[in-house]
Amino acid sequence: MTIDVVIVSGTVFGAAEDVAHHAAQLLTEAGLNVTYKPRITHAELVALEPDAVLFVTSTTGMGELPEHLQPLVESLREQPPQWQGVLGAVIGLGDACYGEDFCAGGEIIRELYEELGVVELQEMLRLDASETVSPETDAEPWLAEFAASFVA
Ligand SMILES: Cc1cc2nc3c(=O)[nH]c(=O)nc-3n(C[C@H](O)[C@H](O)[C@H](O)COP(=O)(O)O)c2cc1C
Repeated sequence: MTIDVVIVSGTVFGAAEDVAHHAAQLLTEAGLNVTYKPRITHAELVALEPDAVLFVTSTTGMGELPEHLQPLVESLREQPPQWQGVLGAVIGLGDACYGEDFCAGGEIIRELYEELGVVELQEMLRLDASETVSPETDAEPWLAEFAASFVA
């Protein structure tokens, strides 16, 4: 059975998008049917009827989602898709210097998952910009774990 995975990203400076592209490549190589469109719309996302969703998002302001991702998240709240039981995971990019707001954007997506009934597959990956210059590579073991969840 083919597993349909949709990757959604939110970025200000591009790092989250780079991680999302890398994730799409690795998960495709692992045999998953991956769709990644950097600026996907609500209608496109819902029409894909994914088995699993992976949000890759940075945090901006004081604990906020990148501006371009906010309307999509709002629309998923206002017009919730039938995602009860869909599997989900989050990669958050942030900076530990922001203290309590570290990766708060990722936490907003986790709250969204809870509202929609999306079941989190594994703990959110928090990539700390003050610790790493290679978030794509750092995400690899976590992505391998994500892919392995679908192997019978
Ligand atoms: C203006 C500004 C505000 C930020 N606010 C937060 C924050 O509240 N929490 C956090 O964890 N990181 C914060 N960051 C750090 C970014 O999330 C981090 O550098 C991330 O890697 C950027 O990814 P991007 O290139 O995908 O936007 C902030 C960065 C900037 C420049």
